[in-house]
Amino acid sequence: MPPESVRPGDEYTERAESLLANNYGPAPLTFVDADGTHLVASTGQRYLDFGSGISVTSFGQGHPSVRAAVLCQLDRVWHTSNLFYTLPSLELAQQLINSSFAERVFFANSGAEANEAAIKLVRKAASLNRPPERRNIITFSGGFHGRTLATVTATAQPKYQQGFEPLPGGFRYCEYNNVEALNEIFDDTVCAVMFEPVQGEGGIHVARPEFITEIQRLTKAFGAYVIVDEVQCGVARTGKLWAHEWYESFVPDVLTSAKALGGGLPIGATLIGSRLKDVLEPGSHGSTFGGNPVCCAAAGAVMELACDPALLQRVGALGALLTQGLGNINKKHSVFAHIRGRGLMLGAELESEFKSHIVDLVSACRDQSLLVLQAGSGVLRLLPPLTISEADVELMLSRLDAALESDWRD
Ligand SMILES: Cc1ncc(COP(=O)(O)O)c(C=O)c1O
Repeated sequence: MPPESVRPGDEYTERAESLLANNYGPAPLTFVDADGTHLVASTGQRYLDFGSGISVTSFGQGHPSVRAAVLCQLDRVWHTSNLFYTLPSLELAQQLINSSFAERVFFANSGAEANEAAIKLVRKAASLNRPPERRNIITFSGGFHGRTLATVTATAQPKYQQGFEPLPGGFRYCEYNNVEALNEIFDDTVCAVMFEPVQGEGGIHVARPEFITEIQRLTKAFGAYVIVDEVQCGVARTGKLWAHEWYESFVPDVLTSAKALGGGLPIGATLIGSRLKDVLEPGSHGSTFGGNPVCCAAAGAVMELACDPALLQRVGALGALLTQGLGNINKKHSVFAHIRGRGLMLGAELESEFKSHIVDLVSACRDQSLLVLQAGSGVLRLLPPLTISEADVELMLSRLDAALESDWRD
């Protein structure tokens, strides 16, 4: 039960609305406690969390080893700035390099910042040995890369850009998974391609192998770089540590990570491969909090968990179980046109006639004490903690079934 001083949810909602900027439109729920796969609201109600704070608490709330790492660091150094080194950032950089193609790491505080660094990195590289017109970056429909001006411009979705013009130049948009369109748009003004191996906000779309092959072929032919945005799909979410590992012999130049990397604490990382490792020089880029030792300590513990082969295998098995369960539910309710994704990054796309009710379905799930997300056009997005049990999957499916039984379509 919540402490006595805690007041009911709607009172908090009213207060929040008078205090916070009006840019999110959250549900009228205030969480005061959490354990593992559950969040506890101020009303005392326990919610099964199949959103993980948008792919952040991938090892649940209060995982003992992440907690221990944070507490240990809290007794040591909290912050130094990047005018000095601290041990947790060195240890984390070593883990990231050992577990990937990367040879250098830049630390930031968020996914947008990790992407901003990646964009600046490829532009800087192009500025060193290419003509000035060679600065274009190709990004894809349905992609999402963040909310800073550069990353919102990289995000090829007008709804996120409108009203914020003038936007920075040098981005070209192409249809995701469309090999012909990519060939048409590619020329020698392109310095990089940036994409999500599994699109999250866009509605859980997995990159086709032939699309990746073509990205590899064209970037090689034109001497351009490849940035993979794994802010949402990385850190074991798909059943491999990094989602691009699903594509054999595909090695990007840059990978961006954030969200789950900190296990709930804010951190972003730009992983830099051999071709770009010497591009940034002192003074060229920076972030006051980037590499904060407490956040890096949390991320170090997260990386230990995420690299465990048994965990990765379990993510695949649980993803299959959940996909099968969603299929069975759909046999009963016939509401989903597609169920897709990888590992524990799943999307169930509503039939066209129900798409406009996606918010109502998410809310009906909440009424059943189940937290789920929406994405793209009418897609129910599931990003549970990777630590869920089979019993959690069963509980989720029974609550979704109950939500679908309710009058969400009325
Ligand atoms: C793929 C992807 N990239 C970048 C971002 C931006 O991350 P942040 O909100 O931490 O800036 C997000 C956030 O949802 C994302 O899903």
